[in-house]
Amino acid sequence: MRVGLGTGSTAAWMVRCLGRMVREDGLKIMGVPTSQRTAQQARTEGIPLTTLDEAGWLDLTIDGADEFDAALDLIKGGGGALLHEKIVAAASERLVVITDATKEVAALGAFALPVEVIPFGLSSTRAHVDEVLAGADVMGREIALRMADDAPYRTDEGNHILDLSLRRIGAPGALSLQLNQVPGVVENGLFVGLCDRVVIGHGDGRVEIRDGATGAVTHERIDFDERENIFRDDL
Ligand code: A5P
Repeated sequence: MRVGLGTGSTAAWMVRCLGRMVREDGLKIMGVPTSQRTAQQARTEGIPLTTLDEAGWLDLTIDGADEFDAALDLIKGGGGALLHEKIVAAASERLVVITDATKEVAALGAFALPVEVIPFGLSSTRAHVDEVLAGADVMGREIALRMADDAPYRTDEGNHILDLSLRRIGAPGALSLQLNQVPGVVENGLFVGLCDRVVIGHGDGRVEIRDGATGAVTHERIDFDERENIFRDDL
């Protein structure tokens, strides 16, 4: 399979597990990383990598999320990789999100929505984003330029990120389209209609799998070494 490899603390565990399967079980995959961080980790794990252009189309992408709702729409980009994550997800047959139960929300927006913008004309882009928010179905409209130490954060593409504190997003699809129409906005962290399945890990080993197409919810239980449980409540 050609597999998109997500970014973030949850996805990093998936990359670690895939690496073990490649090395010990002979799993044959080609990975397409969604960030430099993930690429570096996947190389260390011994997962063969290719580019999205070489792969053309991916069978599956596995990634984390910052929030998901009942429709399996997502906010992503807390880790700053939303642009490559969205391009890779859109080029995948299936997007499976792995998460814990704390990421589930009734309405998206409690987590600040990351928007990737090019550095040129940042203030006017920010003003136009504010105008979009003024007419949007949202409860808050604070905009913060993401910082890394004392300088504006840079994505893998050299862009900046505006984090929008919206508290509640009434119409994620419409907002996503409106934001992407602002000159200077490269992409936003709303993943609408992209996620096929959410796999939710619970602290006691229960796993809940939600399927977007069928609405089916299945339950499994994982036998694990307690020391390896990343969903332990005390972590
Ligand atoms: C990276 O840019 C993000 O989209 C991550 O997928 C998301 O922030 C989830 O990260 P964690 O697994 O670290 O919570």
